[in-house]
Amino acid sequence: MKFDVLIVGAGGAGLYSALSAVQENPDLKIAVLSKVYPTRSHTGAAQGGINAALANVDPTDNEEAHTFDTIKGSDYLADQQAVRFMCYEAPRIIREMEHMGVPFSRLNNGKIAQRPFGGASKDRTCYSADKMGHVMLHTLYEQAIRYGVNFLNEWFMLNIVHNGEQVIGVTALNIATGEVKLIRAKAVILATGGHSRIYWGYTSNALGCTGDGTAAVLRAGLPVKDMEFLQFHPTGLRKSAILVTEGARGEGGYLLNNRGERFMAKYAPSKMELAPRDLVSRSIMTEIREGRGFKDEEGREYVHLDLTHLGAEKIKERLPQIRELTIDFEGVDPIKEPIPIKPTAHYAMGGIDTNLRCETPLKGLYAAGEAQCVSVHGANRLGGNSLLDIVVFGKVAGKEAVRFAETNQFASGGEGKVADDEKFIQTLFDRKGTETLGDLRNELGEIMFRHFGVFKNGAEMEEGYRKLKNLIERAHRNLAVEDKSKVFNTDLVSLLEFYNLLEIADVLAYASLQRKESRGSFTRTDYPKRDDENFLYHSVISKREDGSYDYQKGEVDISLYEPAERKY
Ligand code: FUM
Repeated sequence: MKFDVLIVGAGGAGLYSALSAVQENPDLKIAVLSKVYPTRSHTGAAQGGINAALANVDPTDNEEAHTFDTIKGSDYLADQQAVRFMCYEAPRIIREMEHMGVPFSRLNNGKIAQRPFGGASKDRTCYSADKMGHVMLHTLYEQAIRYGVNFLNEWFMLNIVHNGEQVIGVTALNIATGEVKLIRAKAVILATGGHSRIYWGYTSNALGCTGDGTAAVLRAGLPVKDMEFLQFHPTGLRKSAILVTEGARGEGGYLLNNRGERFMAKYAPSKMELAPRDLVSRSIMTEIREGRGFKDEEGREYVHLDLTHLGAEKIKERLPQIRELTIDFEGVDPIKEPIPIKPTAHYAMGGIDTNLRCETPLKGLYAAGEAQCVSVHGANRLGGNSLLDIVVFGKVAGKEAVRFAETNQFASGGEGKVADDEKFIQTLFDRKGTETLGDLRNELGEIMFRHFGVFKNGAEMEEGYRKLKNLIERAHRNLAVEDKSKVFNTDLVSLLEFYNLLEIADVLAYASLQRKESRGSFTRTDYPKRDDENFLYHSVISKREDGSYDYQKGEVDISLYEPAERKY
């Protein structure tokens, strides 16, 4: 249980970190710890594609255009040199993955195919039908096995262990046995993914997207950044909130209201359905709020995503998974009928505060992927930039962690940490439960969706924050682990995950109340305008020992493009 580099999380960021680390120095002991079997990581749910200015479809595309689109899409909150770095790395990393065997869809000339995506000025999104994340995840996992990366599968990270200056390792629960161990590492990379499950029943995210790394960072007193920015993807399935890829609109799908109007003409006359996500989600919600949506027997409100004009052949070739999901979860065949959709909580722009080298302020601790806020997405991420971010910064984190491990010793200490975690877990077993986890999770989702949704305002957020505080208090008093066994106790893991969600919901709510403007995905009806004079900053928050927050304003790098009004 001692590794030179320990990576927590086996999605795209974790696996790319592991691969770059093992290739950088094959003599080091490198391990990936994951609460799920690696190929079940949420990267596998990514559908539509990955951006890179390959110029295979539009020869006028280039890395600078990708940089600009991303900065504009971020509503000028992204750090511009970081964005430029990511966009210039993109073509190289796509070729790297192509050589590993990632099966991209192809043009007739054999080059990697690219489709249009939201907020992009060119057809730039490389894809593999509508299963880009799935094929990337499987290829990266195969490569990691090939290069001899160690895997600790079905281990749940509990806490980051450190001595105030340097990381010592992490404590983790072996889900198979129920044992808690201290895993020592010279360098630790948190690649633990996002936290949109705070919106419980209203999210496209897998059950496991509970922000475990981000919550552990908060408990360790380390900073998180821009937590108020959480993106709603415009098209989630009405009943389940499962993602319907932007690729469906990239292939020509329309959004229609109850009058049969392509309403995006009003909101984004030039980009229409391919405007960025913040704008499209607001437009859908506006149509619904103003009575131009549909309502089903159970009161769910939605609009239509119409693909019927694309024809069976195109849908089967380019969007097979969408068809399958829509049939299974809505009972609707998109070849024949429009898909009922509504915005779904999809992506956390905020996360663990790092610099461009993926370093946190704690020596030896790194973060990559959706868990990390570097920041390349600012206030609103463009579709197709997430798969790019996870591999580009996964690679950086792997290399940097190796450099650290090569030049530093294991930090000593941390012996009592296992006992602390065991004691906490025992209290959950011993407690008498008076409420159920299922109910409280649903309540969390309702609070977040109703009070911190696509549109927000001060009074509603204040009310939501009061409800949230009450929920947190009840969850720590009234929830217990009902299943008393040690082996594969998913009841225990689910409760620990829920506590992480509450940790994150609290900081997101707090950060939201401080930002009195509208920017990107963050829309306040009481402050409808962007306010660069007072709010062009990153919110950087850490938790003090007494539970209060330290709130700092971090500088935004606008060294390339002056902030301007966004029009699409
Ligand atoms: O719409 C999608 O396929 C999602 C892509 C993304 O979040 O980047």
